Amino acid sequence: MIVKTADFVVSNSRVEACPHDGRPEYAFIGRSNVGKSSLVNMLTGRRALAMTSATPGKTLLVNHFLINGEWYLVDLPGYGYARRGKREQERLRRLISAYVLGRAELTCLFVLIDSRLEPQRIDMEFITWLGENGVPFAIVFTKADKPRPGQLKGGVERFMAELSKTWETLPPHFVTSSATGRGREELLAYIEEVNTQLTIDN
Ligand code: GTP
Ligand code: MG
Repeated sequence: MIVKTADFVVSNSRVEACPHDGRPEYAFIGRSNVGKSSLVNMLTGRRALAMTSATPGKTLLVNHFLINGEWYLVDLPGYGYARRGKREQERLRRLISAYVLGRAELTCLFVLIDSRLEPQRIDMEFITWLGENGVPFAIVFTKADKPRPGQLKGGVERFMAELSKTWETLPPHFVTSSATGRGREELLAYIEEVNTQLTIDN
């Protein structure tokens, strides 16, 4: 897929206020600082479309970006950043939960996983929760430019092996780097494929 246009549309603190034009959407979720906003910029080829930061807790709202006038890319706040106040943490937990469970337009949720880390309990619990609620998702490993090649392959394999303990069929997975652009074509091709399938089904 060629990204011809990518436009910021709106930021919301409430899911009910998100766009209601029926366009399919694809959202990025994952721990704070995993690279969600950077991936929005990498995919769209726009360096500063989504705001990124070296310190966790940058994205605090649901951000809609319209791609080619056809579908939305959605940048969500991260989960699991304990240094925020309790109230703010609870607000974000509710916002993420309301979005993931209540957003009919959500076509696929991409769960971002830091490719440098061993499988983290918080990610596993989040994925289990998605499964319990029947939310369609795929896995995106981020920061693939950081680990050595052997380490990267081992890390991805260990994570998928961990998932296969609870999942009979594994979700699709992608290995990406916002620093090098790795995985961009694969991710865009996947979204295009799902969009095409939606058109056929309707
Ligand atoms: P929150 O909005 O706080 O939840 O974080 P986020 O998941 O949106 O992360 P963000 O995109 O802001 O990136 C966090 C940090 O990781 C920034 O310093 C980025 O430059 C860095 N980063 C993101 N992706 C990559 C990547 O692929 N490679 C490298 N080397 N750094 C990355
Ligand atoms: Mg962010």
